[in-house]
Amino acid sequence: MKIILIGSGGREDVILKSIAKNPDIEKIYIIPGNGGSLDYAERVNISAEDVDAIKDFAVKNDIDFAIVAPDDPLALGLVDKLEAENIKCFGPNKAAAEIESSKIFAKALMKKYGIPTADYETFNLDDIDGALSYVAKSDYPVVIKADGLAKGKGVIIAENFKQAREAVIGCLKNKMFGRSGEKIVIEKFLSGHEVTVMAFTDGESIIPLMSSMDHKRAKDGNKGLNTGGMGVIAPNPFYTPEIANECMNKIFLPTVNALKNEGRKFKGCLYFGLMLTNKGPYVIEYNSRFGDPEAEAVLPLLKTDLFEIMKAVADEKLNQIKIEFENKFSCCVILASGGYPEKYITGNVITFNNKELKKIPGVKIFHAGTKFQDGKLYTSGGRVLAVNAVADDPETARANAYNAVNNIQFDNMAFRSDIGTAHIKK
Ligand code: AMP
Ligand code: GLY
Repeated sequence: MKIILIGSGGREDVILKSIAKNPDIEKIYIIPGNGGSLDYAERVNISAEDVDAIKDFAVKNDIDFAIVAPDDPLALGLVDKLEAENIKCFGPNKAAAEIESSKIFAKALMKKYGIPTADYETFNLDDIDGALSYVAKSDYPVVIKADGLAKGKGVIIAENFKQAREAVIGCLKNKMFGRSGEKIVIEKFLSGHEVTVMAFTDGESIIPLMSSMDHKRAKDGNKGLNTGGMGVIAPNPFYTPEIANECMNKIFLPTVNALKNEGRKFKGCLYFGLMLTNKGPYVIEYNSRFGDPEAEAVLPLLKTDLFEIMKAVADEKLNQIKIEFENKFSCCVILASGGYPEKYITGNVITFNNKELKKIPGVKIFHAGTKFQDGKLYTSGGRVLAVNAVADDPETARANAYNAVNNIQFDNMAFRSDIGTAHIKK
């Protein structure tokens, strides 16, 4: 089979390396890929958001199967365009992907089907006064969310009325998130432990992957700005089998059934961002794709061949496949360019102490913002590498991941040194 894989981050690199050995695959094109892709795929210089050019490329090159990994092309309907050309896809169509691309749609779906989520109201451009009087009466903190995709920045947690007012005016009047923030959700703040659960679904059945814990803030001790994610451990230490059971019955199955009932069958990876509150698990957000960097921590624990699962999802035969995980622990540390998620410099040479790295068991290094040029590897983005270690216990996974980090070098390298310690430290 000839495959296209869309995207250029660490998530796409772990997907690429997980499917590369499947014997059914004769050729993989990655669109556009990064400095880690070259040994596994041919890179195609088309932007992941140029959905018409991707469709044309797929048709011209007799592509059999597409893996659409990032949110933007899913929201732009790439899967609809490819399926219209009889190309099978792993990833939801535009209508199903709205569960991520419209927070208002996701909240309304949860309300209609009784799926636990924070109480909320929605407001649009014409109702700035309504939004302001709502936040004037709210308990604090209160959470203000842009309806549409905002590169992970569309959530503002306001500690007081002044901040809430700034967020409301910023979105609805000053268009700080462009069209994505022309409508907003204002919702109650939830407290508890956050858990990510990603699940395979073909629109009928759903099979969760191992749970994980993302670390979203830029600095140690959960300080600094929100980022795309600075590190992950898996499984999540707070996610017990009892909670998993409750989530399956109250959240996972009801969500898949709700989407099906609305005529928006979801085929791909459905991501549940959960808060374990004292009233049980609540949904904070849905994503219509694998998380990044959650994928880099969780997919290395998968024993079953990822591409076999993806084919079963596309063919709506997920119930015919058994998915198995290693009974192990994973720790993933992101190496970023200093300054990320704000301004940062790129173009620094990356060096690996391969002699030492080879001695550390269970380590895999996934590329995100890297570029290969003239025989050297350079930084080319905010998140540069995802360094993952799998081990029999969480302490060893953590120690091995950081040992690997110490054998990688580039100027202005930044990383958190406390990935996987929050639940241990008191
Ligand atoms: P999102 O962009 O939806 O992933 O939200 C970013 C982060 O904001 C989440 O990971 C949570 O830490 C936080 N967050 C979002 N909604 C809420 C909420 N209702 N209560 C508390 N924290 C929230
Ligand atoms: N790491 C969170 C996300 O992928 O949205």
